[in-house]
Amino acid sequence: MSRFYITTPIYYVNDAPHVGHAYATVNADALARWHRLTGDEVFFLTGTDEHGQKVARAAETNGVTPQTWTDRLAPRFQGAWADLAISNDDFIRTTEPRHRRAVQQFLERIYHNGWITKGTYRGLYCVPCEQYYTEDELVEGTLCPVHRRPVELLEEENYFFRLSAFEQRLLDWYAANPDAIRPESKRNEALSFVRGGLKDISITRTSIDWGIPVPWDDRHVFYVWYDALVNYLTAIGYGEDDDRFEAWWPAAHHLIGKEIIRFHCVWWPAMCMAAGIEPPAHIQVHGWLLVGGEKMSKSSLNQIAPGDLTADYGVDPVRYHLLRDTPLGSDGEFSAEGMTARYNADLANTLGNLVSRVATVVGSKCGGIGPSPDPNSRLSAVAAAVVSEAVAGWEAGQPNLALEATWRLLRETNAELEAVEPWKAEPGPAVQAVLGSALEVLRIVSLLALPAIPATAEEIWRRIGMDTSPADARLPAALAWGAYPGSRPVLKEPPLFPRRK
Ligand code: MSP
Repeated sequence: MSRFYITTPIYYVNDAPHVGHAYATVNADALARWHRLTGDEVFFLTGTDEHGQKVARAAETNGVTPQTWTDRLAPRFQGAWADLAISNDDFIRTTEPRHRRAVQQFLERIYHNGWITKGTYRGLYCVPCEQYYTEDELVEGTLCPVHRRPVELLEEENYFFRLSAFEQRLLDWYAANPDAIRPESKRNEALSFVRGGLKDISITRTSIDWGIPVPWDDRHVFYVWYDALVNYLTAIGYGEDDDRFEAWWPAAHHLIGKEIIRFHCVWWPAMCMAAGIEPPAHIQVHGWLLVGGEKMSKSSLNQIAPGDLTADYGVDPVRYHLLRDTPLGSDGEFSAEGMTARYNADLANTLGNLVSRVATVVGSKCGGIGPSPDPNSRLSAVAAAVVSEAVAGWEAGQPNLALEATWRLLRETNAELEAVEPWKAEPGPAVQAVLGSALEVLRIVSLLALPAIPATAEEIWRRIGMDTSPADARLPAALAWGAYPGSRPVLKEPPLFPRRK
């Protein structure tokens, strides 16, 4: 059995969750669910990033202490993830005592290893990014390239992490681990950043106190990114439970958005090296959900709350749309029209239609009892090809490819029914064969699509009379053609996905 440790970035609590965050979390969830189906031991971590200037300012604007503010906001993320059926095994908040202990131990180790020095920093800072920029990185002279708002000049006495000393070691690490950062284009971005030369980075602040105190100098708190990245270690017992830590590290899969490549693909591996642990094994970079061509973000007014969408469309349709329409790695435009079109085409007309149709004809031609599949059905060959493509898609962390392949099997099955027209035929072996095969397709599709639409997968299994849960199946064995047992009641119930206007 192998282990699969998957993480999302931890979200800033300066505002409520939006669909851009949901995109990231749903992708991680789908991959976690896939690995559970294949029998891997999975640990899926998400959480909230609660320190730093950005959060402190949000609290101030709202007239409360940072602790009160974060205590109010963190549950909104937890609630949003519960609404979206996110199956995380842990939810970390960086204000928890376990995290403070891990950060202090980890950075103390780096300090003792000689990679942290003291100096003065003067630089141009973007508060929403929690990051310094150089002048040539700014746009229109003075604006942050991500938020397009003015940066601020900050000067303070800081401790510095000697990132510059890790240039060659990072290049060696990229060379020895060509698959560590995916996709290739994002790996190249990290690589060229390192090749461009690394400067030491300031990792503490004295200008704010909303952070984790530096253990060897408590006038300072750690810079929020240096605190946040360590969450990936805290949750698996760094410094407190060595066996647990060694079981899960370094085989981590960090799923991250494209604007935080530098932190995860350059700083984080270097920090791990400095502390004497291996860098993370995999970093998968995704793009942004855009609204009208702009990144959906907390600082613009284009954010969409996940709860509004799930209330309108249902949980599984939202998950399906997020996974199916924006390949991991590219940007995708989010719109109500796009969501509705996908819902009608794939869920109402293809999957929902097949489920209803099969139940109706099994009702009228087979007395409501599902026949067993035809071992020689044309659909069994289609299923075999689709299964191998879908498995490859999930394994490669490309849910859109897995789902695209899976829906091909559904469309072929609808086409087969239309060709044979069992609803017009006399009951008998031919009708039994095509309906049994369609039921087998529904069983297989439930497994392949479960990571995306878990409640629907359960519901289809119930309706076709399977007495186990698809989540208990073991893949790939359960994907072999022919396992639908037949002689089961097939339930005719209201449409799974009524068509939308
Ligand atoms: N707190 C840091 C991460 C620290 S991880 C050690 C942070 N937080 S964030 O809330 O600003 O963003 C978290 C993640 O959400 C990022 O990976 C970001 O790319 C993702 N998204 C935020 N808006 C998004 C979209 N509109 N679309 C897709 N993902 C987006 O950065």
